[in-house]
Amino acid sequence: MAAKSDTMEKIVALCKRRGFIFQSSEIYGGIGGFWDYGPLGTELKRNIKAAWWQDMIRNPPPGPDGQDIQMVGVDCSIIMNPKVWEASGHVGGFSDPMVDCKACKGRFRADQLEETQCPKKPSKLVGQHSECQLTEPRAFNLMFQTYVGALQDAANIAYLRPETAQGIFANFKNVMDSTRVKIPFGIGQIGKAFRNEINPRNYTFRSREFEQMEIEFFCNPNESMQWYEYWRDVRLKWYESLGIKSDKLRPREQTPDERAHYSSACIDIEYLFPFSDEPQELEGVAHRGCFDLSAHGKHAKGKEDAFAVVDDESKERFVPHVIEPSAGVDRFALATITEAYTVDENRASPEFMRFHPRLAPIKAAVFPLVAKDGMPEIAEPIFRAIKKHYPAQFDAKQSIGKRYARMDEAGTPFCFTIDGQTKDDGTVTVRFRDDASQQRIAKEGCLDYLRDQLGL
Ligand code: GAP
Repeated sequence: MAAKSDTMEKIVALCKRRGFIFQSSEIYGGIGGFWDYGPLGTELKRNIKAAWWQDMIRNPPPGPDGQDIQMVGVDCSIIMNPKVWEASGHVGGFSDPMVDCKACKGRFRADQLEETQCPKKPSKLVGQHSECQLTEPRAFNLMFQTYVGALQDAANIAYLRPETAQGIFANFKNVMDSTRVKIPFGIGQIGKAFRNEINPRNYTFRSREFEQMEIEFFCNPNESMQWYEYWRDVRLKWYESLGIKSDKLRPREQTPDERAHYSSACIDIEYLFPFSDEPQELEGVAHRGCFDLSAHGKHAKGKEDAFAVVDDESKERFVPHVIEPSAGVDRFALATITEAYTVDENRASPEFMRFHPRLAPIKAAVFPLVAKDGMPEIAEPIFRAIKKHYPAQFDAKQSIGKRYARMDEAGTPFCFTIDGQTKDDGTVTVRFRDDASQQRIAKEGCLDYLRDQLGL
């Protein structure tokens, strides 16, 4: 078996070669912690976000008592009033302890010195080289700062949001007032977040610009543990339903020491990436108590209970408690890519991507076996019918083996090939990505066949 780092290198090479992920601004030497998604990566990410929105917001699984769950979505601005970040605690507290080295001018996370190479002497760790001159640890805020308006002075400082969650909290009352949702209900949002990570690393895993898929689920404090367990189970099953194998997924309850002071429970859903021996966080499901709504109530309205609600039945008044499943789109995209990556030396295309059909960037390809003898004329209408509904590709160039290999690398689950027999009996070949087996079906049935197989 290839070493873990070899596997990661091969995955990174395939991602570049086939247009999943590129280094941002690569023609200028790149910029650390920023990535671009190419044509296949963009489709993959869109499919991830669409699956999340469909399964969590539009059609969430039934609640603990089999009841329907109320979920709505928002799409908030990236730059918000800076008071949001004072209330949330990000201005004061969203920081990593850092040490600087006066010799090499490097800046390093104080809690990672034991795993960070000295830039001057990579065989040694930071602090171990005779020339290292480390400062005491100092807090370094992770929020990117900018100015709103023409004047670049302190009064105009604003921040790029470091999480999408606060846009949801700031709109809690707007959503309640403009819809018919009642506690318990959830608000979801997908969008970019920015953190000036000191040590962006492990490919896209720790980036400075990334996307989150976050839910804030508002509930009665008395029922909050039941909702915490509901979301923990729902989120774990969601990853499994999209092809992440359960032996690589690890739910890990945080210890009280790890949790924020206001949080009574938090679980990290972790995945065993090839770049590490230990599973790493894909998502956190946190019980946040009433911390955020109380903090915004206090800062925006002068009263911690400004966003309290009254229960229709019990007439009880409370500030809702919040369960927050917070996932990273890019981390799940990377997990999906590494999970899909398969090597089989017995195949013409030894490297291929076994994506779950729902997430596969291209769902089908249509090939005339040769670009003559009337085959393209039969293949084109089949392709046009499929592409109205699903991302599909038409390819008439090169040998059929090479075309299958290209589609295998892109993770396309089905290829339809029009050959000499098609004219005789009206059938085409369907070729399956995972085992390269083939079957013949009627040429009129390609779209229906695909629909059945994909279940989409
Ligand atoms: N609102 C809660 C929150 O933002 P978090 O654990 O800091 O919690 C949630 O982030 C998720 O966002 C993480 O589980 C991860 O998937 C993703 N994420 C956080 N920082 C990231 C980074 N630097 N690069 C890529 N994804 C990141």
